[in-house]
Amino acid sequence: MITVATPGKVILFGEHAVVYGRPAIAVPVTQVRATASIEVARSGRGTTILSTDLARAVHLREATPDDPLAAIVRAALARFNRPEPDANITIHSTIPIASGMGSSAAVSTSIVRALAKFLDREVDEATVSSLVYEVEKLHHGTPSGIDNTVVAYARPVYFIRGQPIQTSNVRQPFTIAIGDTGVKSPTKIAVGDVRKAWEADRDRYERLFDQIGSIVEQARTAIETGEVGALGPLMDANHTLLSEIGVSSDELDQLVAAAKAAGASGAKLVGGGRGGNMIALVEESTHAAVERALIDSGAKGVIVTTVG
Ligand code: MEV
Repeated sequence: MITVATPGKVILFGEHAVVYGRPAIAVPVTQVRATASIEVARSGRGTTILSTDLARAVHLREATPDDPLAAIVRAALARFNRPEPDANITIHSTIPIASGMGSSAAVSTSIVRALAKFLDREVDEATVSSLVYEVEKLHHGTPSGIDNTVVAYARPVYFIRGQPIQTSNVRQPFTIAIGDTGVKSPTKIAVGDVRKAWEADRDRYERLFDQIGSIVEQARTAIETGEVGALGPLMDANHTLLSEIGVSSDELDQLVAAAKAAGASGAKLVGGGRGGNMIALVEESTHAAVERALIDSGAKGVIVTTVG
């Protein structure tokens, strides 16, 4: 049996605006992961993908073209130039679904890597990322490509849609607490609503995206020069702009406010928004109080992770 694990991710700065060509910064989160295990099946059975979390089995031969689990297997087999093998692929993920932590991209990444090992194929990060991107379109409609990139490379990335990946050097490690509202919010819906709002008032939305882009540039400089103190206010400013774009929610605002009141130096929603997760910048002296405040304010789970 071959097993492959892929981390989740959070976007530190720049979600949504990244869909419209502005930069964004994302980092892997190794405390949560999606695993794919693959083993030989009885001869003639073809490929079956079992999702233990969703309690579903997908037989490749019977799956529709828009089934994302089948689609990533088909895309990988086409790239490896191999026929459907007799294999059972079992996937399991601790990354919350529809919560802005890259669960769909991580599941797809693990499937591609597990299949490559099973079929004795080398696969580089760029190939994994581009295969996963094709399937992200089924999940998300018009994805920027940041989720597949950060998850496939498993490194902090500074990302601009359509441009070669740039990794970001974290000069001085910093710690974030990630709080889960427990509200499932498919990225596709939030991204689709932002598109409608942008179509209705392009000038306003382009201005908001420009402001977010400028925050991302400042954050990149702060991360690469080790000015961690600058990141908190930048997170706050990014959250305010995301609220103006219309992707925050009462639950997210409540967790952001609770984290700040407990000593976090900045906080914001992450990913598609409307639910899912938020992050808060914490220090050794504040992380326990922030974690407690998030739970007391309704967070369904908190992960504390160090970046860099
Ligand atoms: C989703 O993790 C991030 C969004 O910016 C969408 C995308 O970039 O594809 C909301």
